[in-house]
Amino acid sequence: MQFHVLTLFPDALAGPLEQSILGRARQRGLISVELTDIRRFTHDNHGTADDYQFGGGSGMVMKPEPIFEAVESILERYPGEERRKVPVVLTSPQGEPFSQSVADELSEASAVVLVCGHYAGVDHRVIQGVITREISIGDYVLSGGEPAALVIIDAVARCIEGVVGSHENVLEDSITSGLLQHPLFTRPAEYRGMTVPDVLRSGNHAEIDRWRREQSLRLTLRRRPDLLEEASLTGADRRFLRTLGWTSPGPPAADRPGQGE
Ligand SMILES: C[S@@+](CC[C@H](N)C(=O)[O-])C[C@H]1O[C@@H](n2cnc3c(N)ncnc32)[C@H](O)[C@@H]1O
Repeated sequence: MQFHVLTLFPDALAGPLEQSILGRARQRGLISVELTDIRRFTHDNHGTADDYQFGGGSGMVMKPEPIFEAVESILERYPGEERRKVPVVLTSPQGEPFSQSVADELSEASAVVLVCGHYAGVDHRVIQGVITREISIGDYVLSGGEPAALVIIDAVARCIEGVVGSHENVLEDSITSGLLQHPLFTRPAEYRGMTVPDVLRSGNHAEIDRWRREQSLRLTLRRRPDLLEEASLTGADRRFLRTLGWTSPGPPAADRPGQGE
């Protein structure tokens, strides 16, 4: 999968993209990330990419011409039909909330363009003319879209088979699985008086699975009860949650007596 990032600060992204899972995914050709410096598309000797706001107000605005031309220089590499399928995403606090399902959806595309805003934001004609989607990574304001682009690339790349060593692990992750993940432990078995639960050292895989599932349900109920409304829950899950005081909106047909689990 090909990511194209348009930014005024390519160096802010270059280092993190070389590290760990993203770095390995790039080396193995599972993803490719091209950083395009928007300043290359400016029209004066000073590389002016921003200007004062019409109507007054503090904060500079990113000019439309360099962004239009930078986006077009990328899209023209994708012939006809293919071009229409390339999402051109503006990172923006005004965008749709980024989520696992948005990451899954973007991972279906063969290429994604990510435009990083800066200063007070981008000229509105960029949104009208070349952006197909605006995405926010949360209800807070960053100084620039570079951290947001990195978040999006990381989450989307994880959806691509082979990027994370075991795809099974990805499916067990919090949110991806529909729940929050159970607590994790590694060696040593005892550290500063804190011990690993006996069940995890018992070798009894059925009991381990049950413990993990219950911990996961317990944590989700405590921290993110909203997730339970959409999660795929078995009858046993529902019975366990009810012992914790959960009142479900009503069991699905498969969970009603006589309908099996
Ligand atoms: C200081 S912000 C501009 C905010 C803008 N004045 C507003 O009120 O919507 C500069 C840039 O950072 C990026 N940015 C800031 N917060 C973001 C968020 N929560 N998600 C994604 N991008 C964000 C956007 O690219 C934005 O253009």
